Amino acid sequence: MTALLEATDVRKSYGDTLALDGVSLRVDAGEFVSIIGPNGAGKTTLVNVLTGLTPPSSGRVRFKGTDVAGVGPARLARLGMARSFQLVTIFPALSVADTLAVAALSRLRRSTRPFAALSRDADVRAAVDEVAALFGLHDKLERAARTLPQGDKKLLDVASAFALRPDVILMDEPTSGVSTADKTTIMQTLVHAAQRMGVRAIVQVEHDMDIVFGYSDRIVALHQGRVLADATPDAIRADADVVRAVLGIATTQGRTQPGRA
Ligand SMILES: Nc1ncnc2c1ncn2[C@@H]1O[C@H](COP(=O)(O)OP(=O)(O)OP(=O)(O)O)[C@@H](O)[C@H]1O
Ligand SMILES: [Mg+2]
Repeated sequence: MTALLEATDVRKSYGDTLALDGVSLRVDAGEFVSIIGPNGAGKTTLVNVLTGLTPPSSGRVRFKGTDVAGVGPARLARLGMARSFQLVTIFPALSVADTLAVAALSRLRRSTRPFAALSRDADVRAAVDEVAALFGLHDKLERAARTLPQGDKKLLDVASAFALRPDVILMDEPTSGVSTADKTTIMQTLVHAAQRMGVRAIVQVEHDMDIVFGYSDRIVALHQGRVLADATPDAIRADADVVRAVLGIATTQGRTQPGRA
């Protein structure tokens, strides 16, 4: 079976820094994959390479069987991939509705229907309403994005990616900088939205091990630009070397408690 998304022996260097040192990874339909690892492990670089933002120095990236290394986020969005960023990238002056409309419009422009423009306003409005409802932002549509609390800003950023109706969504720390309660809300919201909107796979970078172990089908542990482990949460927990190197948490008699990286 062709992987939805596949990286093969990807290297990325920045001058003397080898940010990715031969990373291979595949993501299949139906999977929720978390990328973990200490600061500087190469997580964001990997997401940037997978989403076409950063061309790899060598190696291959395929999305639905097509070579997409370095093609850029706009073309990848047309192919069905969307992402959110580690730092929230919303335009502060736009309202919540306009922020979602920008994403929905860029998707609808891909439509090949004749006379699509005639129904575009109504289609954009419908898409904005649908995504806003799924992300609990429907009563904040007219607010300027900058006035939202941090948890809602993160939700809006993720919701904008969903408004592209992607097959695969990649998120760099979707819950960073928010409270523990907000983290759980964000995760439950986005998993529910993914099911409702037909998103076929989710890849996230996440530091919070409660979230990682609670939601992932598979965990990819990066360390110094290499894949240290690629396994189920149970297998990762049982691997003392991974736990020590990546999670930095104490092991007792081979059993571990997930902690915070
Ligand atoms: N644009 C860049 N120019 C130079 N070096 C870079 C660049 N981007 C990343 N690096 C270096 O590559 C390595 C991996 O960085 P990356 O941001 O991918 O790590 P990360 O795992 O996302 O870390 P964090 O947990 O802090 O977000 C680091 O040594 C970093 O300094
Ligand atoms: Mg990062």
